[in-house]
Amino acid sequence: MTITRADLERLDADDPLAPFRDRFDLPDGVIYLDGNSLGPLPRATRDRLRDVIDREWGRDLIRSWTDNDWIGLPARCGALIAGLIGAAPDEVVAADSTSVNVFKLAAAALAMRPGRRVVVSEPGNFPTDLYMVQGLADLLGPDRVELRLVERDLLTAAMGPDVALLLLTHVHYKTGAVHDMAGLTAAAHAVGALTLWDLAHSAGALPVDLTAAKADFAVGCGYKYLNGGPGAPAFLYVARRHQEAARQPLSGWMGHAAPFAFDDRYAPAPGIARHLCGTPPVLSMTALEEGLKIAAEADLAQVRAKSMRLGDLFVSLVEQMCGPEAPHLVSPRDGALRGSQVSLAHADGYAIVQALIARGVIGDFRAPDVLRFGMAPLYVRHTDIWDAAAHLAEVLRTGEHRQDRFQARKAVT
Ligand SMILES: Cc1ncc(COP(=O)(O)O)c(C=O)c1O
Repeated sequence: MTITRADLERLDADDPLAPFRDRFDLPDGVIYLDGNSLGPLPRATRDRLRDVIDREWGRDLIRSWTDNDWIGLPARCGALIAGLIGAAPDEVVAADSTSVNVFKLAAAALAMRPGRRVVVSEPGNFPTDLYMVQGLADLLGPDRVELRLVERDLLTAAMGPDVALLLLTHVHYKTGAVHDMAGLTAAAHAVGALTLWDLAHSAGALPVDLTAAKADFAVGCGYKYLNGGPGAPAFLYVARRHQEAARQPLSGWMGHAAPFAFDDRYAPAPGIARHLCGTPPVLSMTALEEGLKIAAEADLAQVRAKSMRLGDLFVSLVEQMCGPEAPHLVSPRDGALRGSQVSLAHADGYAIVQALIARGVIGDFRAPDVLRFGMAPLYVRHTDIWDAAAHLAEVLRTGEHRQDRFQARKAVT
């Protein structure tokens, strides 16, 4: 059945999440389909950062660590994130980057499985996850760590007695395909292995239940669907049952049991706090906290329902409007198996994305040929999906993307 723009106007009028859009400072004339890479600026963040700079830093100075509870930021942010990923507040902390957190937790997991050296992941996983394990293998030596890449369909079968850790990204960054977290975790546990889930494209975009899935460890980004700002601190999760045993290698003073005792010997803090390393970046963690407050207000079931609807509509509209010229669908067609993005493949993908950006439709490109369109339900409207598909069809019809100005690759794609 042909979809009309009026159908989508009706969906916008009935959308329970529609009021959230106003919480973000979105530029006029922009359809923002890249919240899976960098979430937009929440209006509250600008005011809060101004206050932190002028009053907390400018006037209260060092007293702010306690008077304005800067020191509590990692735990406060962690508790807000916990509510989005099916964890208890004391199982999550905000710290470092996702890359660094992968390193810390992969090392912790390997140490908890002495005699096993294999970390299983999949080819095409987000590179940093693989690179961090490769770095760990270089550091500890091949007799202690081996990274084994196994195709998605064979992951369960690859679980064996030499596997220490299964490291996967829950929602694939390029395709948007969702892994069965509970099923794969059970397969890992059946052979005595642990799991580490990268939730970069999951947290805030779809309901995640780490507790129900019996996941052991997780990490994730603050700057995507959590709208924490460019380079926002990341987070990590350690299931409570592992908190006594899990020791991370970056034994900085902020993870010490008593940082202000200034002891010469490292003694890990009890609980999740031992996974901190150095001083928290107060300005960026404050921005993250504002983003998280918004995410915490949204009903994740509504978020998921709208995200699947936006994705389904985009897939249908691209086919309806582009006809036989439609780029090939890379993401799963079934919304239940797809995260909050739709990825398409086209040989001229980079130039098409650039032509769309020039028209105000912001998505991104992932080599070699993938056009990614993120549908963050808190601010993307159904009519935006219509307009984005119409722009894509127009670019393809006119061949606008073949212009020279859209060919040169920028440093960030
Ligand atoms: C799945 C995944 N993991 C990790 C990262 C990035 O980690 P970091 O914040 O350390 O750069 C990304 C960034 O896009 C990602 O998509």
